[in-house]
Amino acid sequence: MVDSKLQIVHDNMHQRQSIGHLIEPAPNKAQLTQAFQAALTAPDHHRLKPTHFIQIETEQREAFGLLLADAVADLGETDPVQVERVKSHPFRAPLLVLAVTRFQDHPKVPFFEQTLSTGAAVQNFLLSLQAQGFSSIWRSGAVVESALLKRQLGLNDRDLISGIIYIGTAVKAIPSRVDVDSAEFVTTWQL
Ligand SMILES: Cc1cc2nc3c(=O)[nH]c(=O)nc-3n(C[C@H](O)[C@H](O)[C@H](O)COP(=O)(O)O)c2cc1C
Repeated sequence: MVDSKLQIVHDNMHQRQSIGHLIEPAPNKAQLTQAFQAALTAPDHHRLKPTHFIQIETEQREAFGLLLADAVADLGETDPVQVERVKSHPFRAPLLVLAVTRFQDHPKVPFFEQTLSTGAAVQNFLLSLQAQGFSSIWRSGAVVESALLKRQLGLNDRDLISGIIYIGTAVKAIPSRVDVDSAEFVTTWQL
């Protein structure tokens, strides 16, 4: 790889950041496919492919908000203000993608490895979207544990909704990320 390409790849990683307030445009089908392809190269022990994505498109957000409200009520939320608030969550971005770990039984691949594989897939997904000019934020919340939500999405109870990724375009210019000093997080083991 020539130096300028290397720099572009690293700048994309070093500058990755989450943006909460997202507007149109969302990625089109081809752009989204690029990001899914990137996601699905994540490390994955025995290539079980435990990661699955569910898209919630712009026109489905209202229905999805109602489902989220049912889910939090089902989880025991009794405050009507909180239940109502959840209905608006999908409108924080034009496109939502749920990242799901569909655990598979395998003698050599414990569930935690499959969860981590989804995490790696999400990171690839976010980086690909950012490289294509889009912004995103990975969210979760108690609602991801709702059995009702899982059922309505066609999932099993033991599947894990690892995140709800909100995707779109940043409203304003994104400031540069403040660099961390990696030396503070790295040690060298010696006998
Ligand atoms: C599994 C997971 C779940 C998260 N859930 C939420 C969430 O529900 N709400 C939220 O504001 N941030 C959540 N975050 C954190 C944001 O995605 C983001 O990483 C954080 O705000 C730091 O910003 P940065 O990504 O720009 O460094 C979550 C992160 C991870 C890895």
